[in-house]
Amino acid sequence: MIFSKITDSIGNTPLLEIPIKFSDSYFYLKNEKNNPGGSMKDRMARNMVVQALKSGKLNLDGTIIESSSGNTAIGLAIAAQELGMRFIAIVDHHAAPDKIKIMCAFGAEIKFIEGDYKEDEVAVVARQKLGAELAKEIPNSMFMNQSDNPDNPGGYTGFVDELLEEFENGPDAYVGCVGTGGSITGIGKGLKAFRKDIKIIGVEPDGSIVFGQPGHPYYQSGTGTPKGDEIGKVLEYDCIDLGLQATDSEAFVTARYFAKNFGVLIGGSSGGAIYKALELISTNTISGNIVTPIVDGGEKYLNTIFDDEWMESRNLLSSNIIENLDNWIDK
Ligand SMILES: Cc1ncc(COP(=O)(O)O)c(C=O)c1O
Repeated sequence: MIFSKITDSIGNTPLLEIPIKFSDSYFYLKNEKNNPGGSMKDRMARNMVVQALKSGKLNLDGTIIESSSGNTAIGLAIAAQELGMRFIAIVDHHAAPDKIKIMCAFGAEIKFIEGDYKEDEVAVVARQKLGAELAKEIPNSMFMNQSDNPDNPGGYTGFVDELLEEFENGPDAYVGCVGTGGSITGIGKGLKAFRKDIKIIGVEPDGSIVFGQPGHPYYQSGTGTPKGDEIGKVLEYDCIDLGLQATDSEAFVTARYFAKNFGVLIGGSSGGAIYKALELISTNTISGNIVTPIVDGGEKYLNTIFDDEWMESRNLLSSNIIENLDNWIDK
C-alpha cells in the first residue's frame, strides 16, 4: 500500500494468534504497536486533532497542548508535525525517557513537571493543572484533555470496524487496559452495539483507583488512574462487564515472557491485560475468540521492564508467574 501521509497508515493492524493449552478458545493479540507512533493512541490522537479542527476549536495556526505519559503525546506530535502545528507536551518522570525523545524528534516542545515525586508516583494532577493554565495563556491554543475529550473514545471506530471485519460475529471477548478509559469505552461500546453479549473486560494496574480498589504507587506506565487523580469523564463503566487489576510483576514478567517465547516486544500495560486474559481463559470465565491489544511496544521500556537489574532490585521477577504462563500457553 502506498500512503501520501504517515497518519494514513494508522490502523489495519494485524492479529497474532497465541496458542492456548487445554481450551477451545482462540486468543489473539491485535498488534497496535504497528501504528506509526508505536501505540494504539495514534488513533485517538489523530481523531482529537481532526475533530478540533473540524469544529473550529482549533485552526492550523494554533497550538495543541496535552498532558501525557507518552503515547498520546507521540500520536499528537505526529499529527501536529504533519499539519505544521505547534505542539506542547506536558510530561513527568513516569514518561519513559525514550518516549520523550521520540516526541522531541517529531518537533514537540516539552514541559517537564519537576517535583518531589517517588519513582512509582505520577504527577498527573500537576500536569493537568499546567495544561489548563497554558491553554489560557497561549492565544489560539487548545488543551486536548484526553480524559474528558469525547473524541478520545471516538478515535477507536476504526479498531472496532477492523475486528468486525476479522471475525464474522465479532470477537466473543475483549480484554483491554484502562487508563483514561477512552479505548475500552470506544471499543466496548462499538462492539456491544454490534452484539450485546460480547464480554468487555478492563484491566488496570494494582494501585490504580478505576475499579474502586485502594490506590498506591505503581510502575506500569500510561495505564490506570493514580490515587489523587480524577477518573476520566470519557470512561463509561456500563460498557465494562468486569474490572480487574494486574500487579506490576504480572504485567512486566508477562511482557518479558512474550519477548523470549514469541519474539514480540510488548509494553508493560499490555503484559498485564494479556496475563489477565489468559487467567480468565484458563478458568473458562471467557471463551471463544478473545482479543487483547498490544497497546505499545517494549522498545520504549528497555531500561526498565527489560533490564534484569531494574526488575530484580524492585523485586518484580517471579517464577510463579512464568509457571502460570507455561501452564496456559502452548509454546
Ligand atoms: C501504554 C498504555 N497502556 C494503556 C493505556 C490506557 O489507554 P486508555 O487511556 O485508552 O484507557 C495507555 C494510555 O495512554 C498507554 O499509553
